[in-house]
Amino acid sequence: MANIPLEPLDKERLKENLSHRVKGGFGAFWVAGSRPAEPPPVRPIVLTGGIPDPDALPIEELIEASNTVLRREGQEALRYGGHQGHPGLREWLAEETRRREGLDVSADNFTITNGISGALINVSETFLNEGDVGLVELPTFPGGAGAIQNCLCDIVGVTVDGEGLVPEALEENIERLEGEGRNVKLLYTVPNFQNPTGTTLTLERRERVVEICQAHEVVIAEDDAYGDVRFEGEKLPSLFAIARGKGVVFMGSFSKTMATGLRIGWTMAEQQVTDALLQTRFDLGVSPWVQRTILEFASNGMLEKHLETVNAIYKRKRDAMLAALDERCSRYATWTRPEGGYFIWLALAETVDPKKLAEAAREVGVAYVGGYAFHIDGTGHNTIRLAYSFANEDEIPEGIMRLGRALEQASQS
Ligand SMILES: Cc1ncc(COP(=O)(O)O)c(C=O)c1O
Repeated sequence: MANIPLEPLDKERLKENLSHRVKGGFGAFWVAGSRPAEPPPVRPIVLTGGIPDPDALPIEELIEASNTVLRREGQEALRYGGHQGHPGLREWLAEETRRREGLDVSADNFTITNGISGALINVSETFLNEGDVGLVELPTFPGGAGAIQNCLCDIVGVTVDGEGLVPEALEENIERLEGEGRNVKLLYTVPNFQNPTGTTLTLERRERVVEICQAHEVVIAEDDAYGDVRFEGEKLPSLFAIARGKGVVFMGSFSKTMATGLRIGWTMAEQQVTDALLQTRFDLGVSPWVQRTILEFASNGMLEKHLETVNAIYKRKRDAMLAALDERCSRYATWTRPEGGYFIWLALAETVDPKKLAEAAREVGVAYVGGYAFHIDGTGHNTIRLAYSFANEDEIPEGIMRLGRALEQASQS
């Protein structure tokens, strides 16, 4: 009888890879991951998730757009739509990219995905073979690292500082790994308002990163989850625009600009890459109804209007958080000052014990994500990520006051 392989994956290797993933972090344990044995003593102010402001979700507008779609094109909206995605939505994305970045792209350069998460899986599966190396940022959004590891590849971290990914560190890592005979295939990066640090890659560095990756034939997976959540400063060209598309897969999403529950994102890539992405993927596409509803919302100017409203809210929230941090926490930490996105990143003073901070934060009722959750090398215990997007505006000063109390309790002075 034929020997049917029941274990197509090297499960041991996968288990080993997955065991390095950290879920949640100090201070986040009662909202992310496992349930605590005891409920927290005080209702916590939650500064953890990268989630849009719940009171600003465009619910009424989406009801209206969805009704219009169902009445006008219900039959098409409710049957399979093909795995490249709705042509109308792809055309709208292409038109926006031509207008905003001056690029010569068409609907054919786009695929619609199950958020950037779906795009990351598709990109990783398309480009990576077992044993290849994927580069990620240090610290990084764990989803990107996980998608690479799931392809049985190794991940190596590249330092991020206040100006984003450090090109010298990128080049050094690639050259060292190539010298060791490793196949460095992919760089996963978040150039705008990076998760978790909130930093934005400077224009000069963007050009260097593209140059280095092109020279070494490393594909760039550019994650722009937060790019349109800009409330200050000038928009910078994407890595995709700088490279004129060569060697870059751009990934966008409506999660952070509209709602995470839509589960709609996209890839933009050169034609042959797009063809390869589609060949690798088999999922019958993502919801035609939701795609058409988003198109109805966006093409009527509602997305632009919505972004103006929410970006003003995020600016106020960021300002409130920064002001409270200045007032309450400056003895115990330093932090980033993002021009957009959802996050502020704190580096704790040496005097702060991160474990004690987690305990104290639970006691006083403030939830954050311990920075080690974003470090693939097991470091980052002296950092934390705060999200200002989700918490109520009035709660932010109180949340930071509680954090200041917890920091004081966790400090050896
Ligand atoms: C940098 C980054 N990329 C991707 C995602 C997931 O995006 P999506 O909801 O489009 O799958 C997140 C969510 O937190 C994120 O922070």
